[in-house]
Amino acid sequence: MNNNRYAVSLPGLELKNPFMPSSGSFYYGLDHIDDFDLNELGALVLKTTTMHPRKGNPQPWIIQTKAGVLNSVGLANPGIAAVKADYLPKLAEKLPNLPQMLSISGETIAEFTELATIIDQIPSISAIELNLSCPNVDEGGRAFGVSTTGITAAVSAVRAVTTKAVYAKLSPNVTDIKPLAIAAQKAGADGLTMVNTLVGMSLDLMARSVRLYRGKGGLSGEAIHPLAVEFIWEAASVVDIPIIGVGGVTIDDALELMLAGASAVQVGIMNKEDSLFLPKLIKQLPAALDKYHFETAADVTYALHPLPTDEDAWAKSKEK
Ligand SMILES: Cc1cc2nc3c(=O)[nH]c(=O)nc-3n(C[C@H](O)[C@H](O)[C@H](O)COP(=O)(O)O)c2cc1C
Repeated sequence: MNNNRYAVSLPGLELKNPFMPSSGSFYYGLDHIDDFDLNELGALVLKTTTMHPRKGNPQPWIIQTKAGVLNSVGLANPGIAAVKADYLPKLAEKLPNLPQMLSISGETIAEFTELATIIDQIPSISAIELNLSCPNVDEGGRAFGVSTTGITAAVSAVRAVTTKAVYAKLSPNVTDIKPLAIAAQKAGADGLTMVNTLVGMSLDLMARSVRLYRGKGGLSGEAIHPLAVEFIWEAASVVDIPIIGVGGVTIDDALELMLAGASAVQVGIMNKEDSLFLPKLIKQLPAALDKYHFETAADVTYALHPLPTDEDAWAKSKEK
């Protein structure tokens, strides 16, 4: 495979191809080491890690709805001390050449700062992804990612204590993504990851009960793909830092996220449905680039034509 055709260069992440698992869909990667050669991935994105261990929400964690999957994992993870002591050394040893991005989440700005300070000292981690969908205790539980003040505070706190690349993972639970994307860039983010799950809810009619313990959960999968396309397209029009797209995806969906402005693509729920989904996606890339007449993967990014402005020409172009 001619690597240059598929390679994507992002801050802190030299990707041999644009595809990687999204945080939470591969845990810390070690469970997948026997599934396929993880070195085939563009990068490995690790489970969101918090200051203290979290056991997560009562089961079920994942339920199917008519349009997409709802999850309510509740950021179950062993906490940064255990991740640093147990998981990261093993990953560094087993996958020394695979770029690794660790996702973190704090309930306060102090926690974000502390987590980033610790990770800054870990050579095997190339980049830090900030999961901004978690509740900000100091703002009454409102997620960091739904206000410019929350995003600015979290990103600038992390920026101040690390030289590693910082990616702000934005929440889609907002009406206008543009000011939030701008806030992340201004606060020093090197890139954006878009999008996290969309809040949703599913009910059991017979039991007159919620299907998830906390009532609401995070919607993902093909149901959120068109929303991710739109959010990425909006954000790409106002920032000049790269965007990693997430939400979906088949190979065509992945290229669509890139056409809208993403430079690389993460895959979430599909990894839970098929642990070989990512190597299959990676294998589909050459034929897809040929099919849509792109020389390289990097050429797809933001290659979307401007919106049409001539109604007659538009109608004509749609005639069979
Ligand atoms: C089971 C599950 C666990 C997840 N855990 C995390 C997490 O720990 N951190 C995070 O930033 N996003 C988490 N997400 C969100 C995904 O990383 C991704 O943003 C979202 O699912 C949309 O991508 P998809 O449509 O490909 O699933 C999780 C999603 C699922 C389905």
